[in-house]
Amino acid sequence: MRRGVLTSRPEKRVALHEVDHPLVRDVLASLRDKSTPAEEFRRLTRKLTALLVFEASRDLPLDSVEVETPLERTRVERLSADVVLVPVLRAGMGMLDTLLEFFPDASVGHVGLARDEATAVAHRYYSKLPPNLGERYVFLLDPMLATGGSALSAVQILKDQGARRIRLLCVVAAPAGIALLEERSPDVDIYAAAVDRALNDQKYILPGLGDFGDRLYGT
Ligand code: PRP
Ligand code: URA
Repeated sequence: MRRGVLTSRPEKRVALHEVDHPLVRDVLASLRDKSTPAEEFRRLTRKLTALLVFEASRDLPLDSVEVETPLERTRVERLSADVVLVPVLRAGMGMLDTLLEFFPDASVGHVGLARDEATAVAHRYYSKLPPNLGERYVFLLDPMLATGGSALSAVQILKDQGARRIRLLCVVAAPAGIALLEERSPDVDIYAAAVDRALNDQKYILPGLGDFGDRLYGT
């Protein structure tokens, strides 16, 4: 895993974790391919999310408990983190089921954001979050970090509700979005499968994989 590859100011806390692994690259190759149909795109999204969460959960706390194996009593460790999952609608929903496999007891909040097609500025149309976010581990799910406007808006909504431990899981991140979060919310950890080159005039990520929500839902 590469950390903070784009951090230009060494005095700032490094927030970027690029999950660079052959399995990640292989799944990403199919996600980028425009001929991949929606059904397969959804399946690949779940697969890639499992690889992302593997890295993004490395620091979660464990409790030591005892269990009886078929042979003897032994000490084992179980996750003790109080987890909250927050998919950003729509595209983040494609990642939610995978997280719920690992954190079946997690609370789930939803944030609805949509970019204006002309300006690429995100506006909020929905927000419903669980209470007491302060001490909880919040996984913010949004596969595309382009200008960073949507992610920053979602982070602000979470912080306004008291969240302090926020990690963003995304599939592809653009330098502009990383820089915006690094500047405005450096305490948020970003886990990305790839850092792409740039944005085009319509603020789509290059090379990217197109509109994630459209590809996920065939719209
Ligand atoms: C996409 C994506 C992010 C956002 C990223 O959502 O899922 O939320 O764009 O772009 P930004 O970093 O420039 O804000 P979109 O607004 O297209 O909504 P959708 O998921 O409903 O398609
Ligand atoms: N949102 C997407 O779905 N794709 C992009 O490339 C940029 C924003």
